[in-house]
Amino acid sequence: MSSEQIRRDLQDQLAAHQVRNQGIASSPAHAFSAPARVNLIGEHTDYTGGFVLPLAIGFRTIAVVTPRSDDQAVLYSSNFNETAQYDLRSLALPPRGHWSDYPIGVAWGLQQQGIRLTGFNLSIDGNVPLGSGLSSSASIEVATAMALLDHSRSSLTGEQIALLCQKIENVYVGSPCGIMDQFVITNAIDKHALMLDCRSLSFDHLPLATDARIVICNSMVKHSIADGEYGDRRGEVERGQEILRQRNPAIQLLRDATIADLEAARTEMSEASYRRCKHIITENDRVIQTREALTAGDERRFGQLMFTAHASMRDDFAASCEEIDALVEIARTLPGCLGARITGGGFGGCTVNLVDAAHAEEFALNLKAKYREQYGIDAQTYVCEAVDGALARATQ
Ligand code: GLA
Repeated sequence: MSSEQIRRDLQDQLAAHQVRNQGIASSPAHAFSAPARVNLIGEHTDYTGGFVLPLAIGFRTIAVVTPRSDDQAVLYSSNFNETAQYDLRSLALPPRGHWSDYPIGVAWGLQQQGIRLTGFNLSIDGNVPLGSGLSSSASIEVATAMALLDHSRSSLTGEQIALLCQKIENVYVGSPCGIMDQFVITNAIDKHALMLDCRSLSFDHLPLATDARIVICNSMVKHSIADGEYGDRRGEVERGQEILRQRNPAIQLLRDATIADLEAARTEMSEASYRRCKHIITENDRVIQTREALTAGDERRFGQLMFTAHASMRDDFAASCEEIDALVEIARTLPGCLGARITGGGFGGCTVNLVDAAHAEEFALNLKAKYREQYGIDAQTYVCEAVDGALARATQ
C-alpha cells in the first residue's frame, strides 16, 4: 500500500468519524494508523528471550479520536458496524470476548501507567485479515495506543508502547503472547525487516533485498492464539526451560541454552518439552544465520533457512497443519521460489514465501491455483512491501 493510499484512507476515516460525531465533538479529530506484521523467521522464540526477524506490512488499522466532555469511552468499529460504551472511571471489568476488549484494554493499560484519560469517541477501521497470523489484534492495540496517547497529550517511547500493548494482551485480554508483534508494528521502518533481541529489546533495521519479494499466502484455515494451543506449547517450552535452569543457573532463558545442554537434560523432561525446546534453540541460531545471509545479500541461503525453519515448526514444535504444509510443498516446486514457511503463532494462518522478484506475481497465481486443486479452498495471496511502523508514520 502506497503512502498516498494510506493518506487517503486516513482522510476517509477522519471524514466518516466527523460525520458520525457531528454535534458531539467540537475539537478536530486526529487519525493514527498501525500496520500488520509478517514474521520472516524466529517463531515462538520471543517469550524465551530469543531473536525474531519480522517486518511491518501494508494492511492497516486506523484509529480516529475526538474528545468528549464526560468520562465515557465510546468506541465504534466500522468492521463490525457496532458501538460499545464504557465508563472510564470503572474499567476494571473483565474482558467480554468482544472486539472492544482490545481498544478498551489500551485505555485500561494507560490508566494503569498513571495516564489520566478523559472521555473520548474512538472510531476503528481496518483491513488486517482476522485470525490469520498477521497480528490484527496488535495492530488494533498499537493504533489505539497512538490515538489515546495523543488524546491524553502523553507520549511513550516505541519500546514502552510495545510493552504496554503486550501487557494488554497478556493481562487484560488473557492471551499469552510474546513481544514480537507489538514491537515491530510500533517500531518498523519501510523497506527493512526488524531484527529484535527479545531479551534486551535492542533491535536493528535490516534492509531487504530489492530483487526478491515477500509473498504471503493465507491458507484460510483460521486459528486464534487465545484458543489454547499457543498456551499449551508455551507451557511445554517453559517446563523444559525450568529444568535447564535448575541444572545450570547460567541458563536464565532458553536463549542461553545450547543443543548440548538440552541433550544432557533430555531424560529429565517430557518428549514434548524436549522437542519444543529443540525447535527454539535451533530457531534462534537460524535467525542469526538469516541476518548474516541478508547482510551478505545471499537470498538462496535465506530461503533455505526458511524451509528448514518450517520443518522445525512442523516436526519439533508441532504447530503446523496439513494445509499449511501443502502450501510450503507446492511453493517449493514453483519457479522463482527461494524459501517458504509457516508464519506467526501456527495451527493455520499464513505462509511467508521469499520469491525472485521477476516471478512473484506468477508464483502467487500458481500457488493459489494448485492449493485450490488440492483442497478446494480459495487462498488469498499478497505480494508485500515492508512499510513503516506506527511510530515512523506518526512522525511524518
Ligand atoms: C504470535 C504471538 C507472538 C509470537 C508468535 C510466534 O504471533 O503474538 O508473540 O510468539 O505467535 O512466533
